[in-house]
Amino acid sequence: MNVQEVFDKNRAWVKDKLSIDGDYFSNMSKGQSPEMLYVGCSDSRVTAEELMGLAPGDVFVHRNIANMVPNADLNVMSVVEYAVHHLKVNHIVVCGHYYCGGVKAAMQAQDLGILNPWLRNIRDVYRLHKTELNSIQDEEAKYKRLVELNVQEQCINVIKTAVVQKAIQERGVTVHGWVFDIHSGKLIDLKIDFNKILEDVMEIYRLDH
Ligand code: CO
Repeated sequence: MNVQEVFDKNRAWVKDKLSIDGDYFSNMSKGQSPEMLYVGCSDSRVTAEELMGLAPGDVFVHRNIANMVPNADLNVMSVVEYAVHHLKVNHIVVCGHYYCGGVKAAMQAQDLGILNPWLRNIRDVYRLHKTELNSIQDEEAKYKRLVELNVQEQCINVIKTAVVQKAIQERGVTVHGWVFDIHSGKLIDLKIDFNKILEDVMEIYRLDH
C-alpha cells in the first residue's frame, strides 16, 4: 500500500462531495445526530457504513475484535452510554460476521497472550450454548452458529446496561442482532426474539422497578 495514495484519494473524495453540495463539510461540522449505534468486528473486510450503504453522520460506530460487549470494558460501555444517553440513538445493532478470526481463535486451544481474556468471553458463550453447539457435527456450521450465538449474547450484554434499559422503557429503543456473510456480501437479520429474551434477562438484570 502506498500511503501517499490515501491523501490523493481523500482529495478526490472532498472534490466529489463538494461538487454535489458546496456546504457538505461546513454543514457536517455543525454536529451529529445519528439514529443508529453499530457495534461490529474490526475485521478489515467488514466495513460498517459501506456495507449498509450509509453515509457519514448516519451511524455511530464501535468496532473491536469479534464485536464484543463485555460488561467491564470501559471502551464499549462508554460508547453505549454516549450513543444512547447523549446522541439518543433509536437503534442499537450488534453485527457479527461469518469467518470471524476472533471467534475461530477462541475455539482453539492456544495461548494468545493479551488476547486470552478478551477471547475468553467467546468461550463463555460456547459454554452457555455447549449442548446445542456440540450437537452440530459439521465444523463450519458449528463455527457459524457460534458467530450467531455470540451476537445474541452481546445483544444481551447491551440490554443488561442501565442506560439501555431506561431507553427501552422511555422511548422504545430497539436492539438488533445481525450477521454479515462475507461469502455472499449479504447482511442477515438473526431475528432474535428480544421480547422473550428481555423477559428472561430482566428477571435477573433489572436495575429499577
Ligand atoms: Co471478526
